[in-house]
Amino acid sequence: MEKYRKRILYSRDVIDQRVKALAGQVSRDFSGKDLIVVGVLKGSFIFMADLIRAMTIPCTIDFIRLASYGSATVSSGKVRITKDIETPITGRDVLVVEDIIDTGLTLAFLKEKLLERNPRTLRFCTLIDKKHRREVAFQSDYVGFDLDQGFVVGYGLDFDEKARYLPDVYVLEE
Ligand code: IMP
Ligand code: MG
Repeated sequence: MEKYRKRILYSRDVIDQRVKALAGQVSRDFSGKDLIVVGVLKGSFIFMADLIRAMTIPCTIDFIRLASYGSATVSSGKVRITKDIETPITGRDVLVVEDIIDTGLTLAFLKEKLLERNPRTLRFCTLIDKKHRREVAFQSDYVGFDLDQGFVVGYGLDFDEKARYLPDVYVLEE
């Protein structure tokens, strides 16, 4: 990552505002429901922690980890679950929280897998959405930021496992 310069794209204040707005939406939509929030590891952990604390309704949480075959930057399309959730979701309202959607392959796969377990509802929330990069159709129900181009790090997002700890989101520049 040393060969890139980092430029702040979303400051912690801007992120905070968006997360609070999303939390408001989620709280309204899931009021009175049996909500389980499922974080996709590792990238979503900071976003999810802020999101659920800004929500005004109760929830339970769980985590899932997915791996895609192929290199770190090029998605092969073959995804597998390396750590599954431990909570039964049949008949429950599930909100999956992701850091960023790119080709859509990861969440399209996850959606198919989770639907097999017959949740009552299944919704998706992503901090960042690179909509124009889709290789398969996938639409997130809640989106923090739409991003046209660039590779971003910080606030949970990594480049080769680096930079997750940064409180702001940066775009990498050559
Ligand atoms: P996809 O939607 O299946 O292509 O994969 C999305 C995953 O790729 C995300 O969960 C991230 O782990 C990773 N990813 C895609 N774009 C970025 C980025 O700009 N920064 C950090 N990770 C990214
Ligand atoms: Mg990820």
